[in-house]
Amino acid sequence: MIVVNSGLKPKLIIAFLVPTAVAVSASIVASYLEAQKSLESELGERLMVAAGSAAAALSDDLVYDFAPGDQDTRMYKRTLRRLIDLKNATHTARLFAFSPGMKALVDTDPNVEPGDVLYRLERDKVEIHLALEGKQVSSFLFRGKDGNLYKTGYAPIFNREKKVLAVLGADGSTAYFTALSNLWKHMAVVGAVVSLLAVLTGLFVASRLIRPIQNLVIAAKSIGSGDLEQRIEIKGGDEIAFLGKTLEEMRMELLERDRRMQMMLAGIAHEIRNPLGGMELFLGILGEELESSPELLKHLEKVRNELSSLSRIVNDFLGYARPVRLSRKKFDLQELLNEVKELMRKEAAEKEVKLDIEKNDTSLVTADQDLLKRAILNLVKNAIQAVPSKGNVTLSARLEDGEYYEIDVTDDGIGMDVTVLEKATEAFFTTKPRGSGLGLALAAKIAEEHGGRLILRSSRSRGTRATIRIPSKQSGNIDSRSLEAQE
Ligand SMILES: Nc1ncnc2c1ncn2[C@@H]1O[C@H](COP(=O)(O)OP(=O)(O)O)[C@@H](O)[C@H]1O
Ligand SMILES: [Mg+2]
Repeated sequence: MIVVNSGLKPKLIIAFLVPTAVAVSASIVASYLEAQKSLESELGERLMVAAGSAAAALSDDLVYDFAPGDQDTRMYKRTLRRLIDLKNATHTARLFAFSPGMKALVDTDPNVEPGDVLYRLERDKVEIHLALEGKQVSSFLFRGKDGNLYKTGYAPIFNREKKVLAVLGADGSTAYFTALSNLWKHMAVVGAVVSLLAVLTGLFVASRLIRPIQNLVIAAKSIGSGDLEQRIEIKGGDEIAFLGKTLEEMRMELLERDRRMQMMLAGIAHEIRNPLGGMELFLGILGEELESSPELLKHLEKVRNELSSLSRIVNDFLGYARPVRLSRKKFDLQELLNEVKELMRKEAAEKEVKLDIEKNDTSLVTADQDLLKRAILNLVKNAIQAVPSKGNVTLSARLEDGEYYEIDVTDDGIGMDVTVLEKATEAFFTTKPRGSGLGLALAAKIAEEHGGRLILRSSRSRGTRATIRIPSKQSGNIDSRSLEAQE
C-alpha cells in the first residue's frame, strides 16, 4: 500500500515555521542589541554631561583639600549642599568627587565620609584613568550583586591651572535603566506576536495545500476499491488540479475498459450458448441411436454433464454481465420463498437436504421480483452445495425495525474462513472445481441495485447465513457489501 498523506501537514508546518522562527528571532535579537547599544550610549552621554557640569561647578582647589574630619566644616557642608542640588537637577542617583588615589572627597551618599577608600571604583579603573587625563567618559553597564544596573559617568575636576586634581563620578538612577528593561519587554511582546502570526499563516497555508491532496487520496482510494462511478470534480489549475484531472481521465478509461470487457465477454458467452443448445439436441438424438449399447451411453452421459455445467457457467455469466435494471412491483415475499423452494426441490432432494421455510407474517414488498428470485436462488444453491448430505437449509424473511426487509438463507454446512469470506462476493472468486464464482457477486449486485446490501456471516464450525437486506422505503442509499466473520 502506498501511503500518500504521511504526515504532510507537520512537514509543511515545520518547513514554514523553522525558517520564519529563525528569521524572526534573529531580527529581534539584532534589533534588541542595536537598540540597547544606542540606548546605553545615550545613557552614558547623559551621565558624562551630568558629571561634567557637576565637575565644572566644583572646579575649585578647595575640593581637593577635604580630609577626614572635615565633614562638619561650613565649607564642606556648603559644597555638599551644592552637590545635592546638582544631583536633583540632573536626576542622577549619586554624585561624588574623589582623589586620584580613589579616596572620597565629597559624596552625596551619606554613608561616605571624606578620606574613605572607594573600593567599587576598582571596576572602572580604565575610565577613571582617562578622566584623570582630562577626558569625560562613562563606564560599561554593570549589574551589581544587588541585581540593580549600574553605569557611571566620570569627568575631571580642574584647578585654575587646568590641572586635573580630582574626578567627579555620576551614578545613573534606576529611572535611567527602566527604559532598557522596558525595551526587552517590548521586544518579547513583538516576538510573540510575530511568531503567533507565523504559526497561524503556516497552519492556514498547510491546510489549504493539504485539503485537495486529501481529497485526491480519497478519490484514489475509491477507484482502488473498485468504485468507478464516483466522478472527480476539478477546480483550479495548479499541479494538484492536474493530478486530479489525470485521475479522472484514468477513472473514465477504466470505466470504459470495464464496459468493453463486459461487452466482449457477453458476446463470447452468447456465441458459446447458441451452439450449446444444438449440441444438447443432437446428444438426445445420439442417445436414442445408442440405446442398445450401454457402454457408449455412459460416455454420452458424461458429455451431457460437461455440457450442462458449461451452459450453467455461460448462463451465470450472462446473468451477471447484463446490466441490472430494476422493474419494481408489489408482491408477497413468502410466496417468493415458496417458489424458490419449489425450484430447488429437486436439487435438495438429490442430496437429501432438508429445505425449510421459517413461517413469518406474510409481507408485501415492492422490489424487482425476478431479480430478487435470482439472488435468493443463488444463495440457496450455495447453501445446498455447502451442507453435507441430510444437512439443513432454512429460508426466512422479515421486516426489520420497519426499515429493512431481510431475507436469510441459513445453512449448517462447511462455512467459510475469513480469507474466503473476504473474497466470496468478488466476481469469479470460487473454491469449487466447477464454480463460476458469480453467484454471490450477482446477489450482491442485485441487493445494491435495490439500495441495500448482501451480508454474509459464516464460521467453519456453524455454517453460513447469507442475508439480503433491502430498504422497505425506496429512497435507500447504496451501501457497500458487508462481511462479518464469526468464530
Ligand atoms: N453457503 C456457503 N457456505 C460455504 N461457502 C460458501 C457459501 N456460499 C458461498 N460460499 C463460498 O463463496 C464462493 C463464491 O460463491 P459464488 O459466488 O456463489 O460462486 P460459486 O458458487 O460458483 O463458487 C464459493 O466458491 C464458496 O467458497
Ligand atoms: Mg454459487
